[in-house]
Amino acid sequence: MIHKVTPSLYTSPRLTIAGCGVLGKGIATGLLASPLNLDPSKITLTVRREDHAESLQEEFPDVAVTLDNKDPSIWNATNDPSHFLFIVTKPQHVHIVCADVYSQIEASAVPPVVITLCPGITIAQLQDWLPAGTPIVRSMPNTPVMVCQGATGLFPSPLVSPTQLETISRMFEAISPSAVTIPREDLLNVVAAISGSAPAYFYHLMDSMVATAKSLGLSESLARDLVTQSCIGSGAFAREVPEMSLLNLKNDVCVPGGSTEKAMNVLDANEWHRHVKEAITASLAANRAMGQGVKQKA
Ligand SMILES: NC(=O)c1ccc[n+]([C@@H]2O[C@H](COP(=O)([O-])OP(=O)(O)OC[C@H]3O[C@@H](n4cnc5c(N)ncnc54)[C@H](OP(=O)(O)O)[C@@H]3O)[C@@H](O)[C@H]2O)c1
Repeated sequence: MIHKVTPSLYTSPRLTIAGCGVLGKGIATGLLASPLNLDPSKITLTVRREDHAESLQEEFPDVAVTLDNKDPSIWNATNDPSHFLFIVTKPQHVHIVCADVYSQIEASAVPPVVITLCPGITIAQLQDWLPAGTPIVRSMPNTPVMVCQGATGLFPSPLVSPTQLETISRMFEAISPSAVTIPREDLLNVVAAISGSAPAYFYHLMDSMVATAKSLGLSESLARDLVTQSCIGSGAFAREVPEMSLLNLKNDVCVPGGSTEKAMNVLDANEWHRHVKEAITASLAANRAMGQGVKQKA
């Protein structure tokens, strides 16, 4: 599928990814591979461990990698009007990054837009940890951003200008064809429980399917190939025909009295929908709890 990308509104934004672990690396990989033509010399990645920094530098030789969130490579151009600071640490470390960059942001002529990717940490908490006037966007992507196929929810604070939000939307659109602004902040926790965790749900189902196929005589690699392509194809088809309900798409595969219908009957008899709802609700509760108990003031 061709994924159309509109160029960034800023010709060459400065990007900092603080906490470049699994998701941060996914965003860096996706953005650098995207058609946005970002300038690698204006991108900095930060982590805590020296060995991690070394391996990141090997993987991304053209960008700056540092252990210091106050590094001059990030903050020298304090008049840069287009600095976007992604904080991609675990929730319990976000306030530490905010404390690290507090005085740098205060000294900047134009504050960067701070973008978080953490469930549970609210705009109110972030406003408390950052200098007054810092524009903040909460986002919730998922790991397929690594192959520019993510799904992302966004929620901006009132201080984010339309141009800044548009630029951030375009960056996320470059790595996630579905990048939507959410009407209420609390719904981001639902987005986290649905699309943030979705890759794990799908992999779990795929793993069960491959294990079953193996037990029935297919080789693992053949089964994985068939299951993976079925997953990609089903998603692509569902996106192609938004006018068709998911129930109708399912029913189209289930010939009455046929084999797929028999499989569906087994899932329904075992309360498939109830189990899915319980699993997602457990994820939602964990997302809501994530911001509680972290430090209240930077
Ligand atoms: N993974 C997902 O599918 C997913 C999806 C949506 C949202 N999220 C959210 O994204 C966030 C990151 O998740 P993740 O899976 O990418 O976690 P992760 O792999 O543990 O990455 C976090 C990174 O933060 C770095 N870090 C910690 N404290 C730091 C500090 N003070 N300064 C600079 N770097 C620091 C760590 O560096 P070291 O390795 O050097 O210690 C680590 O690499 C979480 O809030 C998670 O909820 C994740």
